Amino acid sequence: MYSRVEKSSMSNFDQVKVVSQHLNLSADFSKKELSGTCTYTLARADAKSTASIKHLILDVRTLVINSVTVNSTAAKFSLKKSVNEDAFGFGLHIPLDAIKDWSAKSQNTVTVDYHTTPQSEAIQWLSASQTLGKKHPYLFTQCQAIHARSLLPCQDTPAVKSSYSATITTPAPLRALMSAVNDESKSTQDSSKGTNTWGFKQAIPVPSYLIALAIGNLKSKSVGKVCAVWSEPEILDECAKEFEDTEKFLESAESFLIPYQWGRYDLLILPPSFPYGGMENPCLTFVTPTLLAGDKSLVDVIAHEAAHSWSGNLVTNCSWEHFWLNEGFTMYVQRRILAHFENDAKYDQRVKEQEFDALVDLKALKENVYDFGVDHEFTKLIPDLTGKDPDDAFSSVPYEKGYNFLFYLKGLVGGYKVMDGFLKAYFTKFKFQCITSGDMKDFFLSYFAKTVSKEKLDSIDWDGWMFKPGMPLVKNQFDTSISSMVNKLTTQWTEGNWEACSDKDIAKWTTMAKMYFLQQLQEVDGGFSHSVLGQMDKLYSFTATRNAEIRYRWLNLCLINDYKPVYGEVVKFISEQGRMKFVRPLYKALAKAKGGEKLAKDTFNKVKDSYHLITSKMVHKDLFSS
Ligand code: BES
Ligand code: ZN
Repeated sequence: MYSRVEKSSMSNFDQVKVVSQHLNLSADFSKKELSGTCTYTLARADAKSTASIKHLILDVRTLVINSVTVNSTAAKFSLKKSVNEDAFGFGLHIPLDAIKDWSAKSQNTVTVDYHTTPQSEAIQWLSASQTLGKKHPYLFTQCQAIHARSLLPCQDTPAVKSSYSATITTPAPLRALMSAVNDESKSTQDSSKGTNTWGFKQAIPVPSYLIALAIGNLKSKSVGKVCAVWSEPEILDECAKEFEDTEKFLESAESFLIPYQWGRYDLLILPPSFPYGGMENPCLTFVTPTLLAGDKSLVDVIAHEAAHSWSGNLVTNCSWEHFWLNEGFTMYVQRRILAHFENDAKYDQRVKEQEFDALVDLKALKENVYDFGVDHEFTKLIPDLTGKDPDDAFSSVPYEKGYNFLFYLKGLVGGYKVMDGFLKAYFTKFKFQCITSGDMKDFFLSYFAKTVSKEKLDSIDWDGWMFKPGMPLVKNQFDTSISSMVNKLTTQWTEGNWEACSDKDIAKWTTMAKMYFLQQLQEVDGGFSHSVLGQMDKLYSFTATRNAEIRYRWLNLCLINDYKPVYGEVVKFISEQGRMKFVRPLYKALAKAKGGEKLAKDTFNKVKDSYHLITSKMVHKDLFSS
């Protein structure tokens, strides 16, 4: 039922496992190529087995393999096509006949000499003109879910965790950063060649999707004992200010979970084409610059990525079918971090705010579920991904259906504090492991066996939650104190009572409340006339906002109502940043709006090369293949 079977990797990790990797790469910006070697230390997957191991199979995609050695002796290799070559790439088969001794001390190694290609989807190469400073090129990687195989040959499944080290050579004066701790002892400068070499070490075993690299004109500013902010120098001060509270998220998490394990927690603020809000690369979370609202109002994304330091990075989904264990748990931990944040006196209010946040995000879940279709496989908490690209399955489902399941369980077992106790035990039990939803279920039931009645535990419809498509099985009751305040204003606008509205209405509202207001307006039957939208904008200045979440929802509302005066703003917003959460829905909405289809396609064709390869692939699918 809760299968461990891996659907998107060709690697034979059930026979042989990579336990550590060393990358030695050099970046050539003119060729858009990383080249060098990766050395793998191997171990039997099952230490007790004596069966012969014929091959090591690594996942590769859009890589050029030059040569392979096994225990320093040249070896032949072959590439075999996968079932879905486009998404999964090839299996790199390396014969292991030369290895006779598999005992623990044998230290068998394989080295692959290779280079990446400009088609490697994990990597975005930016020219100097695409950076803030305009003087130096830049590159960054994004490996989740299955793009690591286009950065390095690897067992590209979250079921395998390996420590790693690296030396990365960059043109001077650029510097490299990785999802690891900087190893100053390995960092050198070679002024004759005009290069810098940077050393890294990640001692905690991590899955391939958490390997990350960025190279650019990068500077840092400390914002805590273990936290620093990295960015191009032009926005460093602004970034340090926006994210100055980062360390408090870790402190909050540690107050109810287990201690932070990763040493450092730095942030790297990327160029605007970064396709996600954030990515939980260990020791160095990657974040989009669209969080820079100027008032810290969008830092919940940092709480989310920090939460992954426990859910996801310590306790990892063993395959992408169990992705909700990463993201659903992280949404739950994120909201608990924010509830515990800083000031105990405000705890009750913060819990309400977080339930309101869940209510706001329920809307995204509803949209995704209805977009897919209520019976669609991808609306299941555990979807069947046979032959499927995990990027195609990506949606709010694992996030918010997963959160709603945990929120429901929280109510059943006796509330937040009781559930906090479970979380702590869960991270203690499963840290450094990869697990299935079945492991979580078994542990949950055994943890509560003595304190929660059998009748209650028996009432949990595990299969229904995990395998039924559509919206969550139970409609949770979230706190409504904030939403009812917002609903009053929504009613004023829908009932045409806008003479009573003034610019003061929302002046003191939180960003979240404004987001909810705009979402509610999107659902109003019959929509709004253009003069009403114009008046709303005059009062509340939505078009002028620098807050990306509000801007996104306002533009969406306008598109639903075919409100042409904002089409130019939409084009501007989707051209100047490439965060998929914003650009994918806005392209779709623009293409659907009256007179917008051609504009959407023309805009995409014009700016697609500035997007990350993943973004342009997904938007292309959205716009041209239905
Ligand atoms: N790990 C995800 C991003 C991701 C998921 C990348 C799947 C590739 C494949 C990250 O933690 C995330 O969820 N980011 C969200 C943040 C939000 C939920 C607060 C985002 O990007 O918007
Ligand atoms: Zn996440």
